[in-house]
Amino acid sequence: MVSEISLGSWLTYGGGVGRERAEACVAKAFELGIDFIDTANVYSRGQAEEFLGEVLAGRPRDSYVLATKLFWPMPDGGSGLSREQVFTQLDASLRRLRTDHVDLYQCHRYDWNVPLEETMDALTEVVRQGKVRYLGFSEWPEEKIREAQAMDGVERFVSSQPQYSMVWRGPERDVIPASKELGISQIVWSPLAQGVLTGKYKPGEPPPEGSRATSDSMGGFMDRARNPVLLERVQRLVPVAEDLGLSMAQLALAWVLRQENVASAIVGASRPEQVEDNAAASGVELDPATLETIDEILGDSVAWEPPDSAR
Ligand SMILES: NC(=O)c1ccc[n+]([C@@H]2O[C@H](COP(=O)([O-])OP(=O)(O)OC[C@H]3O[C@@H](n4cnc5c(N)ncnc54)[C@H](OP(=O)(O)O)[C@@H]3O)[C@@H](O)[C@H]2O)c1
Repeated sequence: MVSEISLGSWLTYGGGVGRERAEACVAKAFELGIDFIDTANVYSRGQAEEFLGEVLAGRPRDSYVLATKLFWPMPDGGSGLSREQVFTQLDASLRRLRTDHVDLYQCHRYDWNVPLEETMDALTEVVRQGKVRYLGFSEWPEEKIREAQAMDGVERFVSSQPQYSMVWRGPERDVIPASKELGISQIVWSPLAQGVLTGKYKPGEPPPEGSRATSDSMGGFMDRARNPVLLERVQRLVPVAEDLGLSMAQLALAWVLRQENVASAIVGASRPEQVEDNAAASGVELDPATLETIDEILGDSVAWEPPDSAR
């Protein structure tokens, strides 16, 4: 069981968000009942885990659910999902996180260079050693998810971490239906499309000062904040949110949480006020007419497939 809104740490903590504000975001999350924290070994090259290890050290270990990941290249030269890497990267993550176990250990991508059996055996071993409570994956192809869940004698995955938002709906086609069948739920990333769905990026205007799109260290994946058609359509969602008494962030988060297979929306936050805004989306229900209006407004700005360049 995890809170419907969770706190992520890609780009932000141990990275582009200053120490004081990062600490304030984590403190605000706990204050509001957010008990699920997502990180990865690769975030800010280990610095996100270092930061979380420090700030979580003073809190009872059973008061939060801690998730991390492995796969992408690390400064030590390691990458992928081999048996050796599962053992090495997990121990390094535990050291940085200052804990003897993570609650959820996730394969950040599928590793086509390692037999799936080898990965699943190694993951099973770390669960049985008590270093990991549950297993998850992020952005795995459906056939590999099915293969892993059908394997004999190994631990099963409980979670999938796909990108999912009003403007990125690919998981509805394959990962969500397969997961429902296989007893897996989604913890979704970039549910605010990195802030674009909050409406703060206006068509024809420069991005607001201090936003992710203006950041040298965090703004590398912000094409959507420079897409005038998308930004104009997002502005047309503002009255929809207002009529419901919601902020734009709450509308976007309630939209992903309407899917019963979505357990949690993992948000990034650069300020504690954002954590507060986002946390209030938990429990908000959107009626079918609102969902239809959102679809009409967004039209073909909704992406179902990654662009060829991202495959
Ligand atoms: N598995 C994967 O491959 C993968 C990939 C990416 C992310 N993730 C996970 O998902 C988490 C979330 O990703 P994300 O940071 O891209 O998610 P997001 O929630 O879509 O975007 C977060 C950013 O939007 C802005 N924001 C958040 N709340 C806001 C609010 N209420 N009002 C205005 N602006 C707001 C903030 O940026 P500014 O204030 O700086 O503008 C914040 O850093 C990550 O931290 C990570 O844990 C996983």
